[in-house]
Amino acid sequence: MKKLVVFASGSGSNFQAIIDAVRQKKLNVEIAGLITNRDGIGAIERAIKNRIPVNVINETDEQLFKRKLADQLKKWQPDLIVLAGFLKKIPAEIVNDFPNKIINIHPALLPKFGGKGFYGLRVHEAVINSGEKTSGCTVHYVNNEYDRGQILEQKEVPVYSTDSPESLAKRVLKAEHELLPSVIKKLFTQTN
Ligand code: GAR
Repeated sequence: MKKLVVFASGSGSNFQAIIDAVRQKKLNVEIAGLITNRDGIGAIERAIKNRIPVNVINETDEQLFKRKLADQLKKWQPDLIVLAGFLKKIPAEIVNDFPNKIINIHPALLPKFGGKGFYGLRVHEAVINSGEKTSGCTVHYVNNEYDRGQILEQKEVPVYSTDSPESLAKRVLKAEHELLPSVIKKLFTQTN
């Protein structure tokens, strides 16, 4: 069976969407583990609840961070790495070691509203301030530039004049939960 490793830094609702898709047999993969750079986050609780191994790698020293990450990935041997709200840049060596095997979900329609500093509510604030009528989410391959890897798929949602960053975030997140498992499934179907 194909193996996934998920990276998350927050509540892990996208991680949960993957777990649910596996449980409901919509996605035939093994989640080998969760890697996070922050302790005490929701994603860790979700992993524990679902008996998924967790490794918290929160070293501030970049070399140490990179080494621990590489060691863990060597053990878990993922076929695909999924960044599900992981808010730290993946070291270039790791990106190079996993060509076209790392995907990220971003809460906007890239190439707009992406790049360094565009994460979480800041993205939705920027979308609202620019007067966009449509937003959505994007799943893309990860390369060495923030949010610039090849786009795999996008899902659109409307932006209403009454939206706050929070209400838009909620609508986009719902779309993310549908898009991410579906793209993972397609990627594995293509390589099978
Ligand atoms: C998601 O909206 C994801 O798109 C975003 O973080 C959130 C994580 O939510 N990622 C980025 O902004 C990356 N630039 P979750 O922890 O509930 O899955």
